Amino acid sequence: MHKKIAVLAGDGIGPEVVAEAIKVLRAIGRKFDLSFEFTEALIGACAIDATGDPLPEATIEVCKASDAILLGAVGTPKYDNDPSAEVRPEQGLLRLRKTFGLYANIRPIATYERLYEASPLKTERVRGVDFVVYRELTGGAYFGEKGRTGADSAFDTISYSRSEIERIAHMAFKAAQSRRKHLTLVDKANVLETSRLWREVVDVLAKAYPDVTLEKMFVDNAAMQIIQRPVQFDVVLTENMFGDILTDEASVITGSIGLLPSASVGDGIAMFEPIHGSYPQAAGKGIANPFGTILSAAMLLDHSGAHEAAAAVREAVTAALNAGEVTEDIAGGRAMSTTAVGDAVVGYL
Ligand code: IPM
Ligand code: MG
Repeated sequence: MHKKIAVLAGDGIGPEVVAEAIKVLRAIGRKFDLSFEFTEALIGACAIDATGDPLPEATIEVCKASDAILLGAVGTPKYDNDPSAEVRPEQGLLRLRKTFGLYANIRPIATYERLYEASPLKTERVRGVDFVVYRELTGGAYFGEKGRTGADSAFDTISYSRSEIERIAHMAFKAAQSRRKHLTLVDKANVLETSRLWREVVDVLAKAYPDVTLEKMFVDNAAMQIIQRPVQFDVVLTENMFGDILTDEASVITGSIGLLPSASVGDGIAMFEPIHGSYPQAAGKGIANPFGTILSAAMLLDHSGAHEAAAAVREAVTAALNAGEVTEDIAGGRAMSTTAVGDAVVGYL
């Protein structure tokens, strides 16, 4: 198998963590007879600095010519702290998602025994937690009509169509079928009309998946349940902004947001990225946790059908974790650098 990968390292710690994932992909390629061709392109603040555009046309072309996209992170404080900036790094990421129709963002929340202590939750609440969030990624408030109506008022619109809900709901139901057969639809149907449409559509679809138990939960309650009894979740299905917020919250259970991978998929090319941001304070220091990006590379392998290779990467990460070969966010003692952790994973492979 030969795969062309567009590498969009982006800003902050992005380049450092992406370098480790590439290292791991090269090693797994040698072991499983897979070959990868990596082509770098700009996105985010570094793209604005170089071209004035957070998603230059050249980057879109590189992605179009690839089989998958591996992304680091976008964003810098320079733009975060300037609400009047017209061009922002995040726009590059949002346009990329829209351009390639990446409507489903899959975020697995896995826990590791070795890290129970690193979680702010009590061990008895963390034990056995294993769920996956299907976050809608190209609709809702992120992409609805927005603007200013005069100097003192502004609006953002949430809108969803039946087909936008159906396509991701099918994916989530199928995922539930291959897991513990439990799907939780998270919404705010007591207030939002779009949430009532989500319920209507998902109820109809549920008939085609009689083996899956469907539960509906309001988002405020879900925010509480994720902390109180996270073990109850198997597959969570939700709209764009609720998914953004709940997955940051859920990451805390695992001990570090630096651990969590994600896949953004649609009907064509897919993209793989850690869920953490660009962590500018850590950029260039060699302290960023590369596991989220390495595990995103494992999701890329799975998505390409290389399941054995994907499993090997996950096992190598677990082995490094168990041996305490980790970065400072989860070390609780002697910490290793980003590159040393990447080397450790390669060693286990
Ligand atoms: C994420 C991020 C992005 C989002 C930002 C950077 C636009 O928080 O991928 O979760 O809100 O989708
Ligand atoms: Mg987010």
